[in-house]
Amino acid sequence: MSVRLVGLSGSPTARSKTLIAVETAIEHASREHPAVEAEVINVRDHDIRFCDGRDPSLYEGDTRWLIDRMIEADALIVGTPIYRASYTGILKNVFDLIPNDALYGKPVGLVATAGSDHHFLAIEHELKPLLGFFQAHVVPGAVYARNEHFSEGRLVDEGIIESLKRLADAVVDFCERGRVGVGAPVPRIERQSLEDTFRKGG
Ligand SMILES: Cc1cc2nc3c(=O)[nH]c(=O)nc-3n(C[C@H](O)[C@H](O)[C@H](O)COP(=O)(O)O)c2cc1C
Repeated sequence: MSVRLVGLSGSPTARSKTLIAVETAIEHASREHPAVEAEVINVRDHDIRFCDGRDPSLYEGDTRWLIDRMIEADALIVGTPIYRASYTGILKNVFDLIPNDALYGKPVGLVATAGSDHHFLAIEHELKPLLGFFQAHVVPGAVYARNEHFSEGRLVDEGIIESLKRLADAVVDFCERGRVGVGAPVPRIERQSLEDTFRKGG
């Protein structure tokens, strides 16, 4: 059985620490788990439209490509810098774009990077409820890395590196045990047609 693992980095900055952390986890998963087909998506590298309420199937280009990658993934490792005690706007946009059932029953590992320790609980209060809405399984062992854990464009803290590897192992392990908790269907929320999306006035 193959595991399509997507690492999603939601930082808008170049030389992102979040991207380094997500890559560290994904590289470990690819190296240690032969079943894994891994891909890292750095959201800033793609021309992603703002969600405008249309049905997800109606987007084109990079936006459509990203939505499809999220739907096709078996498991994800999602990383974000902490911005204003929460996740970034560009990451929120990805979660606004995808269909409500895109992550249903999938294991997700969470990674946050931050300038301080103050917002460690943003993982609990911001990221977990977001994934909860999608009825994904947040795998225990989320990683919170601070700027001091990086030096000269590298992740140097051995404890954080080890935690990222363990997180990747846990996500793959969860996936290999099979889909868990596939219960009631996801409630359908209507989105707009292209015609309605671009209709002027009331
Ligand atoms: C707009 C903005 C808001 C931020 N807000 C917070 C914050 O609320 N708490 C915090 O600890 N760090 C905050 N930071 C620091 C970043 O989370 C930190 O530098 C992070 O490592 C950046 O990750 P990146 O290199 O992947 O972009 C903020 C940075 C920016 C640019």
